[in-house]
Amino acid sequence: MQNFVFQNPTKLIFGKGTVEQLKNEIPQYGQNILLVYGGGSIKRNGLYNEVLHHLEAINANVFELSGVEPNPRVTTARKGIEICKKEKIDFILAVGGGSTIDCTKAIAAGAKTSHDIWDIITKNAQAEDALPFGTVLTLAATGSEMNAGSVITNWETKEKHGWGSPHTFPRFSILDPANTFTVPKDQTIYGIVDMMSHALEHYFHHEKNTLLQDEMVEGLLRTVIETGPKLLSDLENYEHRATILYCGTMALNGMVNMGYQGDWASHNLEHAVSAIHDIPHGGGLAILFPHWMEHTLDKDVMRFKQLAVRVFDVDPKGKSDHAIALEGIQALRDFWNSIGAPSRLADYNINENSVEEMADKTIIARPEFGNFKSLTREDAVSIYKASL
Ligand code: NZQ
Ligand code: ZN
Repeated sequence: MQNFVFQNPTKLIFGKGTVEQLKNEIPQYGQNILLVYGGGSIKRNGLYNEVLHHLEAINANVFELSGVEPNPRVTTARKGIEICKKEKIDFILAVGGGSTIDCTKAIAAGAKTSHDIWDIITKNAQAEDALPFGTVLTLAATGSEMNAGSVITNWETKEKHGWGSPHTFPRFSILDPANTFTVPKDQTIYGIVDMMSHALEHYFHHEKNTLLQDEMVEGLLRTVIETGPKLLSDLENYEHRATILYCGTMALNGMVNMGYQGDWASHNLEHAVSAIHDIPHGGGLAILFPHWMEHTLDKDVMRFKQLAVRVFDVDPKGKSDHAIALEGIQALRDFWNSIGAPSRLADYNINENSVEEMADKTIIARPEFGNFKSLTREDAVSIYKASL
């Protein structure tokens, strides 16, 4: 195990009726509040009115930025930054999924710097500070509600970058499973794939002695595999929504991956696809991750075997390590297909014409990527071709 420091300052407020906690959490930061949300789901399901009601109760001056896109754009973040500077915003409240929260992180950092926010996202400048912000999460997927990461797209240059700063942890996040009841089936599936992918990204590393970490990641995967299908056949089941919501947060809040570094090449491969084709992040991961696994299997076949046996119950008797490992990868692919996730890039009308362009995007930030196995542009081309 490597040396590590763990610090996660986000206050997690979980459960039924917790949105009313806004009244207690916000006043300490000031009166001028920027409410950030997406394309309107919170208006359709009543959450918008409920949030406004609590903000009115504390006499907040509410400004709004609506229309944050899935795969949020830097142009939208810039609009929010302008409002913050002009209206002297004290606190930002994100109400939505990962996209709304990620955009809010960019606004919060952008409001406290003279740099253009894209320079911070591309790591040409550093965030020195950020406005305080909190979230009301409406979709279980990214873990953005309890981490400092943010993923922003520049549509002009077709680049999608992940970035983060110690200043961009939410001060609090309110997670009421009932606020995820209206998440449509397809988005629920993408969320399940995304949180499982976060667990899998952690799982592939070369650090020795990560006994508890492995068990936690495997437990997370088994829990999602058990609960996901039940939830998908009963979308308003509070307990299943609660389990999946908790799993999504735990998969990427730093709790299960102390003392080692996971891989993250599959996320880089997916971000390159959605930067160009604007597809849902979880949909892209369902296609690419199993192909990344087949491509990197020989780097440490025992790790893949352990996953196959412990998570997918592959019977190892009489089989080679390689065969067991491959059976595990196929079991993952079968599970994702069984819940309705896409399996080929063709499902999004992506064909070989864009392989080279997508591969170029994978190496924008650095010439090689992936910590478990270092990949080059050529590796990206082979994985994309296998995924067509
Ligand atoms: O925009 P609205 O109208 O709110 O609708 C959204 C959107 O269309 C809808 N939705 C959300 N909550 C709902 C709901 N519809 C009905 N009822 C509700 N309760 O769902 C759609 C997708 O929302 P989005 O926020 O885009 O989804 P998600 O949470 O999956 O976020 C995806 C983004 O997060 C990034 C991805 O790359 C992508 O840009 N990621 C962020 C990470 C992080 N910050 O740590 C890590 C991840 O790996 C990921 O890369
Ligand atoms: Zn992800």
